[in-house]
Amino acid sequence: MNFIEASPGALNPQPLIGNSMNADLLNKAELSLFQKLKNAPEDTTLLVNYAEICRCCGYLEKASETYRRLAQLEPDHPTALYFAALFENSEPPVLSPEIQPKPVPFVIIPDFLQPEEHQRLLDFTLDHERLYVKAKTGINAPSYNPALRNNLYGSKTPTEIKKQFRSLISGVLPDLLRKLRIPPFEVDKISVMLTATLGGQYYRNHIDKKNSQPPHRVLNCVYYYHKEPKAFSGGDLLMHDTNLKDLQTPGNRFTRLSPQNNCMAVFPADYYHEISEVVGDPDDFSSARFAVVCHVIEKK
Ligand SMILES: [Fe+2]
Repeated sequence: MNFIEASPGALNPQPLIGNSMNADLLNKAELSLFQKLKNAPEDTTLLVNYAEICRCCGYLEKASETYRRLAQLEPDHPTALYFAALFENSEPPVLSPEIQPKPVPFVIIPDFLQPEEHQRLLDFTLDHERLYVKAKTGINAPSYNPALRNNLYGSKTPTEIKKQFRSLISGVLPDLLRKLRIPPFEVDKISVMLTATLGGQYYRNHIDKKNSQPPHRVLNCVYYYHKEPKAFSGGDLLMHDTNLKDLQTPGNRFTRLSPQNNCMAVFPADYYHEISEVVGDPDDFSSARFAVVCHVIEKK
């Protein structure tokens, strides 16, 4: 795979419906600001607010366009330059450490698997529902915490699937690190986990990296797949702006990515994120939002 580029599909999710966190409020805010901007198209405060709402809604093309307009009006606006580059899939400028919380940098890799590989993985998943069990949280002493995490993971991941994802991720790792502005590091291993999120399930706001404790996760790589036609909505990835100085998040500023079939989303592990509730059949495993969750772990 030679190209890392934004998927047009991933940048144009369906309009938000009432299943996602504060979806109604976000939709109303987007509409209201859009109307106000018609009358004041060069109002930079309105532009900032509109771009922020658009990325919370997952309307990344609109957000990108708005940040570009803002950057034309204020050529030194750091966040506008940052997002304009990020959403165009070019390398974003480095934000000053004083700008906190930091918006999450990310990369989308469309068509991550070949069509026959994607189909094989889907077939394997649908044939192995029995492997999927309720997911736990915590690294050293995992426990059930359904208020935080309510979805399923594969209790066993076949070696071929692990090898396949480790090989593909290793192949694009230098490009990913350059794009995300992460210095090269020695990889200890790449963990690979199968997950399924059915109707009513979710994974609330959390972070995959804790202080200096092992495992030293550096990158989160999430590959999405599902059967067609898509039998669920929601299940969006909300990447929360995070204060990297104290690893806190305000929880109300984020970039939303809608799960696109056969796409991988990659972002640094030291940012908060969540899976919004899936709307679908809670009893039909085949209709789930499936994902392969991988972590690139540094050797220390
Ligand atoms: Fe996570």
